[in-house]
Amino acid sequence: MERTLIIIKPDAVEKGAIGKILDRFIQEGFTIKALKMFRFTKEQAQKFYIVHKERPFYGELVEFMTSGPVVACVLEGQNAISRVREIIGPTDSEEARKVAPNSIRALFGTDKGKNAIHASDSPESASYEIPFIFSELEIC
Ligand code: PPS
Repeated sequence: MERTLIIIKPDAVEKGAIGKILDRFIQEGFTIKALKMFRFTKEQAQKFYIVHKERPFYGELVEFMTSGPVVACVLEGQNAISRVREIIGPTDSEEARKVAPNSIRALFGTDKGKNAIHASDSPESASYEIPFIFSELEIC
């Protein structure tokens, strides 16, 4: 069993897609171990995405992730990290609609920035991201 973090981004929350996205993961056999809605401060979003600090889109990414509430969730399942990445699809929602039309980013995202959902991309990322968002007591 493995755990991963997903964050339903402000664009998908605004679209009213929280329930549909969570249900997709339940239908795919994952268990929800923790769940909460919150709004990132600029400092929190900068720290969460510190790995992208040098990328040209860093400022835009932080601005978008602080633009409205998000929903974070810890999912548990076999090979959760790679399976969840597969289900969400490629980073760019436009590309996702071509190569993975049933993926979450194809169904609910717009482009590379507004792409509906984040998911940990490796065991190292999950180990940083899960305790960044959830305390030990908040994970069932
Ligand atoms: S990957 O697979 O994580 O390496 O994808 P990458 O393309 O490097 O993107 C990393 C995260 O940055 C976001 N992103 C952007 N945000 C705003 N504007 C632009 N142009 C942009 N390009 C990439 C992308 O949605 C990824 O966010 P997360 O939350 O990690 O999915």
